[in-house]
Amino acid sequence: MKLFRGHLFSPTANPFERPTENHIEVADGYVLVDDSGLIAATGHFDERPSNPDLEVVDRGRDILIVPGFVDTHLHAPQLEMIGSYGGHLLEWLNRYTFPTEARFADVNHAREIASALFDELLRHGTLTALIFSTVHEGATSAFFEEAERRGVRAIIGKTMMDRNAPDNLLEDPEESYEASRRLLTTWHGRGLLRYAITPRFAPTSTPRLLELAGKLKREFPDAYVHTHISENVAEVAWVRELFPEADSYAEVYREAGLLGERSILAHGVHLEDRELTLLAATRTKISHCPNSNLFLGSGLFPLRRILDHGVEISLGSDIGAGTTPSMFTAMADAYKVQQVQGVSLTPFQLWYLATLGGAEALCMGDETGSLEAGKDADFNLLDLRATSLLSLRTEGAESLQDLLAGLIFMGDDRVVLQSYVKGRLVSSRT
Ligand code: GUN
Ligand code: ZN
Repeated sequence: MKLFRGHLFSPTANPFERPTENHIEVADGYVLVDDSGLIAATGHFDERPSNPDLEVVDRGRDILIVPGFVDTHLHAPQLEMIGSYGGHLLEWLNRYTFPTEARFADVNHAREIASALFDELLRHGTLTALIFSTVHEGATSAFFEEAERRGVRAIIGKTMMDRNAPDNLLEDPEESYEASRRLLTTWHGRGLLRYAITPRFAPTSTPRLLELAGKLKREFPDAYVHTHISENVAEVAWVRELFPEADSYAEVYREAGLLGERSILAHGVHLEDRELTLLAATRTKISHCPNSNLFLGSGLFPLRRILDHGVEISLGSDIGAGTTPSMFTAMADAYKVQQVQGVSLTPFQLWYLATLGGAEALCMGDETGSLEAGKDADFNLLDLRATSLLSLRTEGAESLQDLLAGLIFMGDDRVVLQSYVKGRLVSSRT
């Protein structure tokens, strides 16, 4: 057994639905982790268990223990093209993204980027992530292998594409299905790893490819589906041309059997009300990626309207259209995107979206996302004095909510002192 000392903060319920009693906070508390990596108990440090062979991790008075961050949308191969500026979505894909992704035909390149990616995610305290690979089977295996080596929780999928991209990234739909199936049967459910069936988005898919993705989902109902929807107005218009028979963009995915509670659609900036009704009815989730939406100029996420329809949301970095893996930035940008639309999100709502909300969106709310007894011990030790400016801000914080706000807007990877997954140290600054 191991005992960690620090102030504790953790969401315990959805603050959009439950305005009170939605989190725990303990000044000078502890998290007790058992030998199987589960949280055995939390409480006040002076009421800690007094077992003599308990190992105590005590890094001083200025540590905040929070659940690991959950990033519900990012592209592993795009790490090296962050900040490729100038174009909106469709131009950006053709000009930068497809040439970058073509390099992942080389497995050694994939291994190098996989190592860099998990360095970055862990340094920023992201302990669970839903990840796009490229179309390459070898590169996708390389991302899984690295995730396994690092001991993080990851859902990864081979991108499926069979039209509207350069020839060197296009596949025969049957081969795409077979390769996805091989990867799924190898990796889905192995340790902390899961598989996501990953058609890139409707414009790079023929109806046949989507049908085969749906077939795979039917064969493996507990696998995930990961794709994009309604990010950009030109994309939405293009889907209308490419799928003239479909009633809407969301209908294209529904017809293929791709909606459901383990389906995560990135963006959803321009969805119509009837599409939101469909997503809510199928319990399909949206990953909101505010940093990416601002970078690509995709639009302002209609969070209030989406929540009012009963669709669950979480937060994604969307590297490399997003410019950082930092979930502090994801929270800060989510806040700003709502501020300009007249909605003021609270720090508790933002931290929920970046932790427990992400875990619930990924149907992992029983395993991770909060500091509650019985869950896996997945948490970060945050250093409230990581920089002199942060010290100045956190020392004067008038409440926990105010402290969390300071971290959202001023926090970065320097704040993340140590990270644990299932009670195992996976990253440490010192
Ligand atoms: N839509 C289809 N592919 C992509 C991608 O790689 N990034 C983003 N942001 N949107 C997409
Ligand atoms: Zn994306």
